[in-house]
Amino acid sequence: MTSQILREARRYETIAEQAIPANAKPAFHLAPRAGWMNDPNGFSYYKGQYHLFYQYYPYSTKWGVMHWGHAVSDDLLHWKHLPAALAPDTLPDRDGCFSGSAVELPDGRQLLMYTGVVEQPGMPGEQTDSIQTQCAAIGDGEDYEKYPGNPILTDADIPEGSSKNDFRDPKAWREPDGTYRCVIGNRAADGSGQLLYYSSEDALHWKFESVLAENHDRFGSMWECPDFFPLDGKRVVLISPQDMLPEGFEYHNGNGTVALIGSFDEQTKTFQEETDHAIDYGIDFYAPQTILTPDGRRVMIGWMQNWDTLAIKMPKSSWYGQMTLPRELSIQSGRLYQWPIRELEQMRSNHVAYQGVRFEGETTLSGIRGRKVDVTITIRPGDRKNVYKKFAVWFGESDKYHTAISYRPYGSVLKIDRKFSGSRRAVIHQRRCLVPDHGGELTFRMILDRYSVEIFVNGGEQTLTATMFTEQESDGFRFFADGKISMDVEKYDLID
Ligand code: FRU
Repeated sequence: MTSQILREARRYETIAEQAIPANAKPAFHLAPRAGWMNDPNGFSYYKGQYHLFYQYYPYSTKWGVMHWGHAVSDDLLHWKHLPAALAPDTLPDRDGCFSGSAVELPDGRQLLMYTGVVEQPGMPGEQTDSIQTQCAAIGDGEDYEKYPGNPILTDADIPEGSSKNDFRDPKAWREPDGTYRCVIGNRAADGSGQLLYYSSEDALHWKFESVLAENHDRFGSMWECPDFFPLDGKRVVLISPQDMLPEGFEYHNGNGTVALIGSFDEQTKTFQEETDHAIDYGIDFYAPQTILTPDGRRVMIGWMQNWDTLAIKMPKSSWYGQMTLPRELSIQSGRLYQWPIRELEQMRSNHVAYQGVRFEGETTLSGIRGRKVDVTITIRPGDRKNVYKKFAVWFGESDKYHTAISYRPYGSVLKIDRKFSGSRRAVIHQRRCLVPDHGGELTFRMILDRYSVEIFVNGGEQTLTATMFTEQESDGFRFFADGKISMDVEKYDLID
């Protein structure tokens, strides 16, 4: 039975979405039906379609009591909204249905596993005490019933001393033998992040197995939105830590994302870490979740925002938050590589290509412009003995606005800068990262979709993601070189 709270959300979202013109949202990135969106949830392939749920507050463009929004797609690029899937309408989730995941049950139904939140009033003058437990809802791909036995995991299922206030974001999956596993973010007694690992026969009754991975005070504090999966002979842990301290150009302050690559010890049921690095080096990226597609690809989608940069938004918009492009993952030389899903290539048209454009100073190229484009740029020194000092491309460019990517071979530093991308707030607008030094040669692919740019460097070895909230007429590309450069540029329009 649909609750009054869910019915109200479903009624509201159908009315509110009509007030948002289709072209006011991204063309092929999922944005909320109305109001607010954060983390991707329940990313799954079910009954012949991809399902993506998300943290959702339909009534405002600010975070509120969390619901789950819902959309489906055949190709992960064209999304159709379905009615909101979950509302905070039962005792264990009355203050929010936080992030989680989806698994298919043997009888063909789908189970959503999510965190239920209850805010308990504190003593006068004290903060409320947030109690987080894991809950389930079972449904048919559109309507879901909360499991009457909720919560299915509580503070009775966590190791001694661990936090019951930070116990959230279950990522569950089905093993080939039909049993289930999940990882859940938690805080250890020392306050730093840990991942708890559970097993189950039926996805409803869970057994604590181990602390899969521990922070040891290295990456921020609480680890949010974990994922754990096999890939290319390794095991990968994805985490979104809060309160990160910066480390060189690798990790930056605030909410970050980390990929840990290693192996899984079946005996101790622990993750053995080998390498770590940031998942994305741009500004707006958080809480990624992956899926295994029917044809065996591991595909990741993240929230294309970050809690630390929420102040940058379109002033009058009645939606907020987008997902990233779905990105195909692979491991090469101990790193997680990301590449736009190949389905995107079917949206390409109007090919324009330049090869070996030699320039110094500033130039534009006829036909290279647009805000829904797939552009690949390769640069190399125009004079090998005298390598250029700096290269930059401005895009989303007009008299007033531009967003910039620049590269300095000295130190091999790549920088994204959206200071001139319409922001009226004094928050972080730039990020730098180190890229491998190939003597001044660099290739990067940029995907623009109205309000965002995603940059895939050197075949996906690194990515930089940022939103940009300027009017669509700001669509120029302008190239700058301090020194001699030879450049190839290839552009496709992306037609939805
Ligand atoms: C991460 C997060 C999750 C939580 C959700 C609440 O962005 O803080 O840990 O489940 O957002 O909306």
